[in-house]
Amino acid sequence: MAEFDMHKIRKDFPALSQQVYGKDLIYFDNGATSQKPQSVIDAISTYYSKDNSNIHRGVHYLSQLATTQYEEARKTIQKYINAEFEEEVLFTKGTTDGINLVAFSFGEMLNAGDEVIISAMEHHSNIVPWQMLCERKGCVLRVIPITQEGELKMDEFHSFLSEKTKLVSVTHISNTLGTINPVEEIITAAHAVGAKVLLDGAQSIQHMKVDMQALDCDFYTFSGHKVFGPTGVGILYGKKDILNAMPPYQGGGDMIAKVTFEKTTYNELPHKFEAGTPNISGGICLGTAIDYLSSFDIDELEAYEQELVEYAETEIKKIEAVRIIGTAKKKTSVVSFVVEGTHPFDIGTLLDKQGIAVRTGHHCTQPLMDFFEIPGTVRASFAFYNTKEEIDIFITALKRSVKMLL
Ligand code: ALA
Repeated sequence: MAEFDMHKIRKDFPALSQQVYGKDLIYFDNGATSQKPQSVIDAISTYYSKDNSNIHRGVHYLSQLATTQYEEARKTIQKYINAEFEEEVLFTKGTTDGINLVAFSFGEMLNAGDEVIISAMEHHSNIVPWQMLCERKGCVLRVIPITQEGELKMDEFHSFLSEKTKLVSVTHISNTLGTINPVEEIITAAHAVGAKVLLDGAQSIQHMKVDMQALDCDFYTFSGHKVFGPTGVGILYGKKDILNAMPPYQGGGDMIAKVTFEKTTYNELPHKFEAGTPNISGGICLGTAIDYLSSFDIDELEAYEQELVEYAETEIKKIEAVRIIGTAKKKTSVVSFVVEGTHPFDIGTLLDKQGIAVRTGHHCTQPLMDFFEIPGTVRASFAFYNTKEEIDIFITALKRSVKMLL
């Protein structure tokens, strides 16, 4: 295993050193949300204890302080994802909000018969907004099928592409399967027919380096709370020219240049897409979370998490009646499985009583569950603060749970 000062890292996350039901907590539900480092918790407290004020509106000291902190956070995030321009980084409520923004606003520029491509492994948040767009505008939704291993059928994807394709919106990493999709190939092929690409980065930015200019995607969206920051805040990256061409998503304060009853003109990027008082502390403290993540070598973290996943899979496979769902060649951070003859909920409940937090159910990917003909999975999802020792305890607990149920 890669060498980290795991003792120090885990001390940074106070929630990890607690007990539930008298057992040391093992937190394997990082795909749902990550725990927060002390620096983020302190930043939230400092903001509300001292700096709280509305932004972009006041001449007074506190308002200017909060505005500077918020805009500094935007720059921190811009630098981390290597966006070319600061105004390409929009604050949102989270990944779902980012996708809805694109579906509504970019969607306004589409016409009946235009096609949007998604995949069979999408989270509901990357399905439903496109269905709503198709109903609203008469667009056509096409779905890239997947293999039993949980990989995209890329031949079919290529056969879907035509001049009718306006947008390809796919997940970078599947929240249910852990599959890392071949997004570079998708982006190149989509651009070749003039289509734009949105990447759902909810499960990728916390596990790997993401570089907007190298990827050359048109949109990338993620949630603060899955990348060690607060809930209720996220980011939509969009290329400047495309964002400039798009109509606003919501109307209100901050997004306007001039309002009269006859005609309103809109503010420049990024404010055009940021109507109303935003989640100010969320934005600032997402910057703190990104600063924390930047203190590590993300490639090393990725390699370490890869070792965790491979170790967990090797050990899980030894347990009779367990079947892993999602066996793509390239995957990370997630092990989803079913135990034949049991319900995922029962396994999850028994693990919980042993101090182990996993997610059970359809993981907001019901069509994927239909494809595998299962009601749901048990999902263990890791972060870099998890350890091999925790996996050993989890495996023992899983064996005990299976024995109780079968
Ligand atoms: N999308 C989150 C998950 O996969 C909530 O658990």
